[in-house]
Amino acid sequence: MLPDLAAMQVLGSRIAAALQPGDVVALAGGLGAGKTTLARAILAGLGYAAEVPSPTFAIIEQYLPPTVRLPLVHADFYRLRDPADAAELGLDDYRAGAALVAEWPEMVGGFAHEPGCLSILLETADEGRIAIVEPGADWLGRWG
Ligand SMILES: Nc1ncnc2c1ncn2[C@@H]1O[C@H](COP(=O)(O)OP(=O)(O)OP(=O)(O)O)[C@@H](O)[C@H]1O
Ligand SMILES: [Mg+2]
Repeated sequence: MLPDLAAMQVLGSRIAAALQPGDVVALAGGLGAGKTTLARAILAGLGYAAEVPSPTFAIIEQYLPPTVRLPLVHADFYRLRDPADAAELGLDDYRAGAALVAEWPEMVGGFAHEPGCLSILLETADEGRIAIVEPGADWLGRWG
C-alpha cells in the first residue's frame, strides 16, 4: 500500500538501494497511476537532487554519475507503437552499463522476460496507490 507521496519515496529509496546496471524497473499502470512519481523517487534515492522532467515527450532521459550513484535511463514509451521504435531511438546504447526505469513498458513489448526486470504495476486505490511487485530472477536475493 502506498497511501501517499511519502510512501512512494520509501519504495523508490528501497529500489534505488538495490538497483544495479543492466536492471530494468518496468512501471506499468494507467494514466496518473504514479509511474513518474516513483521514477523520481528512485532517482532521488540514487542521489539525484535536481528536478526530474517527465520524459513523455523526450521519451528517453539519461542520468550519469556523479549526479547519480549509477547511470540511469528514464524512458516513457507511451507515444511509441512498435518495439522497433525503441531500437530506433538507440535504447540498447543508452542501456549499456546503465539501469533502466521504463514507463509504459508494454508499448515496446515489455521487459519481464529479462532476469534483471523488477515489474511494478501501480493502481489507484482510494486517495493512494497499490503496487504489485514481481521481481525477476536476478532480484530474488535482493528483494525480500
Ligand atoms: N501514492 C500516491 N498517493 C497519492 N497520490 C499520488 C501517489 N503517487 C502519485 N500520486 C499523484 O498522482 C498524480 C499522477 O502521478 P504521475 O504523474 O506519477 O503518474 P504517471 O503514472 O506517470 O502518469 P502518466 O501515465 O500520465 O505518465 C500526481 O499528481 C502524483 O502526485
Ligand atoms: Mg508519467
